[in-house]
Amino acid sequence: MRALVLGKGGREHALSWSLVAGGATVFAMPGSDGIATVAESVAGDSTSTVDVLDAVRRLHIDLVVPGPEEPLVRGIAEDLRAQGIAVFGPDRLGAQIEASKAHAKTLMRAAGIPTAAASLCQDFGAVEQTLAVHPDRTVVKADGLAAGKGVIVADDAAGARRAARRLIGQYGSVLLEERMRGPEVSLIAICHGRDYRLLPFARDHKRLLTGDLGPNTGGMGAFAPVPTTSVTAEECAERTIGPLLKLLDDRGTPYSGALYAGLILTERGPKVLEYNVRFGDPETEVLLPAIAGSILPWLDGAARGRLPSEAPQVVRNALGVVLAAQGYPDEPESGAEIAGLEAARAAGALVFHAGTRRLGDVWQVAGGRVVCVVGQGEGPSEARDNAYAAASFIRFTGAQWREDIGRSWDV
Ligand code: GLY
Repeated sequence: MRALVLGKGGREHALSWSLVAGGATVFAMPGSDGIATVAESVAGDSTSTVDVLDAVRRLHIDLVVPGPEEPLVRGIAEDLRAQGIAVFGPDRLGAQIEASKAHAKTLMRAAGIPTAAASLCQDFGAVEQTLAVHPDRTVVKADGLAAGKGVIVADDAAGARRAARRLIGQYGSVLLEERMRGPEVSLIAICHGRDYRLLPFARDHKRLLTGDLGPNTGGMGAFAPVPTTSVTAEECAERTIGPLLKLLDDRGTPYSGALYAGLILTERGPKVLEYNVRFGDPETEVLLPAIAGSILPWLDGAARGRLPSEAPQVVRNALGVVLAAQGYPDEPESGAEIAGLEAARAAGALVFHAGTRRLGDVWQVAGGRVVCVVGQGEGPSEARDNAYAAASFIRFTGAQWREDIGRSWDV
């Protein structure tokens, strides 16, 4: 099996690592110096069908695994499938579930999936009208791909107005949503048609600072599985994954690939905050180490329409701490020398590279999120202790990390 992973971040490093563990020879476009420790880098634009097709033919690739949403939104999966190439991911229309919040909301309503009440506003007048009637719709979402910067949870209607004005200027339209309360979990299903297999709940920590303070980020750490007594992953999927897959299949637009439901577990049951059409980052960095063996059979099975009969088996806990660059998330600074990567690995952790580069023997910061240090254990505390012990070996000027990843395990 020869696999091509598209992307260059920590999620793609984890995917490559897991595919290699399953016996695949892995290439990554464009990859990174960190990913190059497990997979050969291939130059090219991973959103370009021409570049990817060229690599697939030249390298005799059997399976293509897009990491981020952008290649999928641009139609890479559909274009490659039309050439008879196995790809893990949805076609252009399926990818709109992530690209357009309004489209996702329409599908959720049609499928009867529990989610927040919302209004689509295409100009500021509509924002004013909505907030006059529904002052509680203070979650403002850009209706387009926004690289993690398109959702603002305002404290009140005045804050929502300010956020909406800015996002309408940037993206054209926004969704104003009712604010829901409860613990959040990420639920990722590997899907083909109506069929799906679940990974366990994971939890991401979006805020920059310990105590859930500071600005939103791409994610400062994650852990999996998330113990919860209130509702199981299977129950959530029956309400939030199954009905969407059925609707799409009934409409003659079956979905294939990862479907990520960002869920909030409210007093009235689980509700969908958002869908993504890919694996989460940094959730992938903890989900893949938490399962037995490699994720390869599920990705390859979905790509070929033959999902394994069982879900991946959860055999341990994993917890990841992200070390981020000085200035992240607004203006991350590159160039600081990174020490201690080898010591962290020697301490037993997995170190997935998100924003690094190698100059000879020296590793440097080259992105906002730099590395995700993953500890594993039989229980949650052991995974946490192992992650933090290993992360303490890694040093670079201005490093930022949270002290409280996984401090509260229950929901
Ligand atoms: N961790 C959130 C995301 O991947 O979108």
